[in-house]
Amino acid sequence: MIVLGIETSCDETAIGIVNSNKQILANVVYSQISTHAKFGGVVPEVASREHLRVINVLIKQALQQANLNYNQIDAFASTIGPGLVGALLIGTLSAKTLAVLNNKPFIGVNHLQGHALMPMLENNNIKFPFLLLLVSGGHTQFVAVLNYNKFVTLGTTIDDAVGEAFDKSARMLGFSYPGGQLIEQHAKLGQPIYKLPLPLYYAKNCNFSFSGLKTAVKNLIEQTQLTPQNINNICSSLQTTIAKILLKKSHNAIQIFKQQYGVNPQLVISGGVSANKFINTYLSQNLQNVNVNVFYPSLQYATDNGTMIAWAGLLNFSHNQTTPLDFAVMPRFNLQDVK
Ligand code: KG4
Ligand code: ZN
Repeated sequence: MIVLGIETSCDETAIGIVNSNKQILANVVYSQISTHAKFGGVVPEVASREHLRVINVLIKQALQQANLNYNQIDAFASTIGPGLVGALLIGTLSAKTLAVLNNKPFIGVNHLQGHALMPMLENNNIKFPFLLLLVSGGHTQFVAVLNYNKFVTLGTTIDDAVGEAFDKSARMLGFSYPGGQLIEQHAKLGQPIYKLPLPLYYAKNCNFSFSGLKTAVKNLIEQTQLTPQNINNICSSLQTTIAKILLKKSHNAIQIFKQQYGVNPQLVISGGVSANKFINTYLSQNLQNVNVNVFYPSLQYATDNGTMIAWAGLLNFSHNQTTPLDFAVMPRFNLQDVK
């Protein structure tokens, strides 16, 4: 079984092709970052136009990479939400059209389901049920992943996502969008000498709050002489503070998971922020003493890609779950509402 997946929920136009032997036959990503960077964030209208401009070329490239023809694809999947409505429409219309022309099923995939399941494609040791820490530009949550289509939210951010804390702080430091990766690079050259708040740290749940952290970074920037070394130190302090919060909340989420499901979980980190090596290593090392193994995707599959959509699509398809052609996109689509 071979599935082609299309991801266009935000600012990456991405195509992936996977087969049921868990082989990645193609992975093509066109990042629009440089187009949006001058605006300091993603401009929805521009994103849609860019997706429309490049998508057909990318689909062709992916098929070439996989050495396949359209008629050798068994199903066409696309992200149907959450995301920017105009952007979702481009990828979804493409997948539906390919499905109709080739007389194959269409499969609508939740973007977060793609992130959640991606590490399983790369690592056979991950088994259901597992604990997911989903950390992306728009979402930060702990989820019990009971099956490929069964997600239970255990905790979530009450305001900003982790990715937002990175991106907004980066912007205040004058870095280009999105700033997470740049903060990580600068942090390597600095020390965590500044004390930043740890919002909700002592709350005995696994909810997060990051908006106070962003404000604290703003104040710190205003009070500090921004020499290159101090900028590196601010980045290191922010990254270390975020890692500390994620660790503390992981301990709480592990306890909640154990109480509810009776097993010590594996922890899977995914979403764009799981590209952060410091955070991944910090969590892996510090959760060893509670016997929790930590998994995360390889770098190219941490941020948005089409392979995760093809893989989630393939899991749906192998359980005979396809999507009617008259199904619309869902710009708001909780992981818990996946069926
Ligand atoms: O999953 P993703 O590619 O898109 C969404 O679905 O949101 O996540 C993008 C987020 C951005 O906030 C970006 O700054 C963050 O992931 N990110 C990172 C790193 N690489 C990407 N944050 C921290 N460290 C990184 N290395
Ligand atoms: Zn994403």
